[in-house]
Amino acid sequence: MKKNNPIVDVRNMSVRFGDFYAVRDIYFSVFRGEIFGFLGANGAGKTTTIRVLCGLLPASLGTVIIDGAKFIPGREDVIKQKVGYMSQRFTLYDGLSVAENFDFAAALRGLDTATYIKQRTKLLDFIGFDRTLSVVVKNLPGGIKQEIALCVALLHNPAIIFLDEPTAGVAPVARQRFWKIIRDLAAQGKTIFVTTHYMDEAENCHRIALMRAGEIIATGSPAELKQRTFGANLYKLTPRHNNVRSVDMDVFDMFEPYGAHYHVRFRDGVNVARQIKKLSRDFVVVQIPPSLEDVFIRLVEGQNR
Ligand SMILES: Nc1ncnc2c1ncn2[C@@H]1O[C@H](COP(=O)(O)OP(=O)(O)OP(=O)(O)O)[C@@H](O)[C@H]1O
Ligand SMILES: [Mg+2]
Repeated sequence: MKKNNPIVDVRNMSVRFGDFYAVRDIYFSVFRGEIFGFLGANGAGKTTTIRVLCGLLPASLGTVIIDGAKFIPGREDVIKQKVGYMSQRFTLYDGLSVAENFDFAAALRGLDTATYIKQRTKLLDFIGFDRTLSVVVKNLPGGIKQEIALCVALLHNPAIIFLDEPTAGVAPVARQRFWKIIRDLAAQGKTIFVTTHYMDEAENCHRIALMRAGEIIATGSPAELKQRTFGANLYKLTPRHNNVRSVDMDVFDMFEPYGAHYHVRFRDGVNVARQIKKLSRDFVVVQIPPSLEDVFIRLVEGQNR
């Protein structure tokens, strides 16, 4: 990963729909070979950002550079050539066969037959596709369908691919398979820009940007985000019995139910050792390593209450 050579460079970018800012003044870079995760609640502005980066929507303000090419209105084709895009809702034509979907994408991209067939074979080998190409897409399991959609988006061999919730609604085992493919692609030098609502998946990302209400509120590797958000200040409280006395909530700045227990963070300045001693009458208190789920809850969801 060459840190000094970003493939995506976004500066003070905003997207406005009327008076509403779907994206407000965001800055970030993505480096070659990186798996870059874009996380945020529904409506945070993830898809809108991706549409700008794929040359499908002009930004209202700011600069977007993709693989050395600046986004210029009217010259969207320059950007479109450089990127692959797997959109959030539409991926493949359900009523067409796998072969027909590939043919269509190849025609759209203006690929010559030899290049197209070679690339298609390479991609299908890569995902281990072992069915016939004449199978109609709607008859494929969800996970395989998404893998084919990924191959279609990679057909013109773009340097970077944008995947907008590629595993939404996909079964857990198939999600793991899909992420293995993503990691392998990145290892081969492809840059992957991906959104997901599954925090366990986001752990696979080299770096993450967290979005809330159109703004980027944090950027970093999963380890950096965990360290910055919690340090050693995350504890699991498990009630010892059913009649817990009232808890002094003022000592916490996060208190989240997780099944039968709670994940809590003590406010800065609180005497943690003393509080743990007090809480221990009613709870088993254990310091735990934070997950991205904890980071997300504290930074994104915690702020909306
Ligand atoms: N064409 C449009 N006109 C007006 N508002 C829009 C338009 N497109 C998106 N928005 C609004 O912009 C905000 C950001 O939407 P966006 O689709 O980018 O969110 P998202 O982070 O992708 O959400 P999700 O996780 O649900 O996919 C939302 O409030 C949405 O309603
Ligand atoms: Mg979206």
